[in-house]
Amino acid sequence: MSPFRVTRIMPEDATDAALRADVLAGLTGTPRALPPKWFYDARGSDLFERITALPEYYPTRAEREILAVRAGEIAAVSGARSLVELGSGSSEKTRYLLDALSGLSAYVPVDVSESALRQAGRAITAERPGLDVHALIADFTADLELPETPGPRLVAFLGGTVGNLLPEERSAFLTSVRVALAPGDTLLLGTDLVKDERVLVRAYDDAAGVTAAFNRNVLSVINRELAADFDLEAFEHVARWNAEREWIEMRLRARTAQTVKIKELDLAVDFAAGEELRTEVSAKFREERVRAELVAAGLEPVRWWTDEAHRFALSLARHP
Ligand SMILES: C[S@@+](CC[C@H](N)C(=O)[O-])C[C@H]1O[C@@H](n2cnc3c(N)ncnc32)[C@H](O)[C@@H]1O
Repeated sequence: MSPFRVTRIMPEDATDAALRADVLAGLTGTPRALPPKWFYDARGSDLFERITALPEYYPTRAEREILAVRAGEIAAVSGARSLVELGSGSSEKTRYLLDALSGLSAYVPVDVSESALRQAGRAITAERPGLDVHALIADFTADLELPETPGPRLVAFLGGTVGNLLPEERSAFLTSVRVALAPGDTLLLGTDLVKDERVLVRAYDDAAGVTAAFNRNVLSVINRELAADFDLEAFEHVARWNAEREWIEMRLRARTAQTVKIKELDLAVDFAAGEELRTEVSAKFREERVRAELVAAGLEPVRWWTDEAHRFALSLARHP
């Protein structure tokens, strides 16, 4: 069996420094906002997996439906010998691609969540002894330095995670993907689509409260890593559709006026009753916008597929 390797691209102290900088800027700025990557400690990754199985959370099922039908075509068009997956999480849907890519020799899952990478990497290595699995603990919004693996490469970015980036971050990110690719390499991009507001809001505010627990988990991460004293129950989970920007916003709303101390930052943050902290945006797309953003990043869109109910899309784009 090939050994399963895990490489940490960002040193632990860089993670620490990045969290400090994001929390300081995010809690002292206006409006208050945190980047969503800090949800994903081991508990956050487990909670996200539970979200993917919720009846309200259609994106995972819709994307799986497309992969089940189109994996053969994706394999044929990309001809990939290496699969790089950004924000791979549990790599659960990736199995369709791993099965279809007959000439595949390397799989490179990339995630900030070490626990998710180790769990998925171990399982895939056991299932596919001939495959070289090289996991990277890395932030895909920082420099994308990919290991030398045989080309052509297919970069998969599934789950609609690209929608968690703000428009200017998304444009920088897509350009960085193009720069990391060689001519002939391809990008497979999962995007959730604009649809009925009620369906969207329910997907981010489920009846069982799993998404609410996931949302509050960012406060647990700050409590643990930066010695803060957030009272999780003092913040209410809010999911709201922003029709102008066409994105869902997840927020945490202070139930009462309160002061939160963050010892490691030597900071006290006052929240007024009802004040909100934005913890995630999840942009929803239309085909024209996805195409335009890919083209603006220097990529050539070659395929667009949706599930039968047109809830979610996968696009395949090539480095020209
Ligand atoms: C919405 S989940 C999607 C997981 C999986 N791809 C799926 O489709 O079910 C986002 C994943 O991206 C990871 N992630 C979020 N921000 C990241 C970043 N800046 N760099 C690397 N990984 C990140 C999270 O840890 C999580 O595993």
